[in-house]
Amino acid sequence: MTDSSLFSLPPCNLCSPSSKTVHLWRSNLDVPIERVRELATILSDDERARAERFYFELHRNRFIVSRGGLRTILGRYLNLKPDRVQFEYSSRGKPKLAESGGAEKLQFNVSHSQDLALYGFSCDRAIGVDLEYLRRFDDAQNIARRFFSAQESAIIDSLPEEEKIAAFFRGWTGKEAYLKATGEGLAGSLDAVEVSLVPSEPVRLLALNGDSQAAARWHLHSFIPAVDYIATVAIEGHLQFTINNYQFILDC
Ligand SMILES: CC(C)(COP(=O)(O)OP(=O)(O)OC[C@H]1O[C@@H](n2cnc3c(N)ncnc32)[C@H](O)[C@@H]1OP(=O)(O)O)[C@@H](O)C(=O)NCCC(=O)NCCS
Repeated sequence: MTDSSLFSLPPCNLCSPSSKTVHLWRSNLDVPIERVRELATILSDDERARAERFYFELHRNRFIVSRGGLRTILGRYLNLKPDRVQFEYSSRGKPKLAESGGAEKLQFNVSHSQDLALYGFSCDRAIGVDLEYLRRFDDAQNIARRFFSAQESAIIDSLPEEEKIAAFFRGWTGKEAYLKATGEGLAGSLDAVEVSLVPSEPVRLLALNGDSQAAARWHLHSFIPAVDYIATVAIEGHLQFTINNYQFILDC
């Protein structure tokens, strides 16, 4: 199915009474210019103004496609035309649905990196997603020492060279996904969010400001959304969800 058929797809249903499912969607941001123009028509005036502020056309177009994609997917959940979706923003810039018609139950979060966007949707539970392109850099250890706890940095130090970058980004996306779920973003302290970094174990939150019980109220799930990318979703609550509960692209 091509991207352009997104406009005519049937509604998605996530907020059923027993819903314990998280939907994840992924979208390529580098699309033909006709598609960019089509998506630009569904943005709001403030979104178009924001797009105009990008210096480079590549970044402007990626923003248009990312936000247009978000509106298109939300339109399917809300059974609304994409240009009718309305957002509100928290004091730290986290977008949410404007409160009308019960839409407040549907929660979402977006992340983009290079030419890929990832969208996460949940019902009545805070959700955060973070996506990173696995770029190579030489000083993963120093960056980890700066932003991670002493224990986390020690784990990264102890790994073989070829495992350090993936462990670093798994930790980074886990912390950021949590901070995006709460809406704090990077204004929150990365080293106050402790995550497990042992490659053989599933990523999980170990402690929040030293509190392991607070951490146990959250669920993290890391996965590879595309070659050379890593993503983590943070979701509030004890969902027993597995990879089967994730639904990639157009399958809701
Ligand atoms: C949120 C934040 C961590 C995103 O970092 P990033 O790695 O550059 O970007 P990502 O691609 O992962 O996520 C970007 C998306 O997250 C969402 N977002 C923005 N602010 C957010 C927040 N505080 N919490 C959760 N999600 C947020 C938006 O949908 C954004 O997409 P958009 O730029 O297309 O609108 C970072 O921008 C941040 O810390 N923001 C808060 C800054 C702040 O406190 N500002 C106060 C004055 S407004």
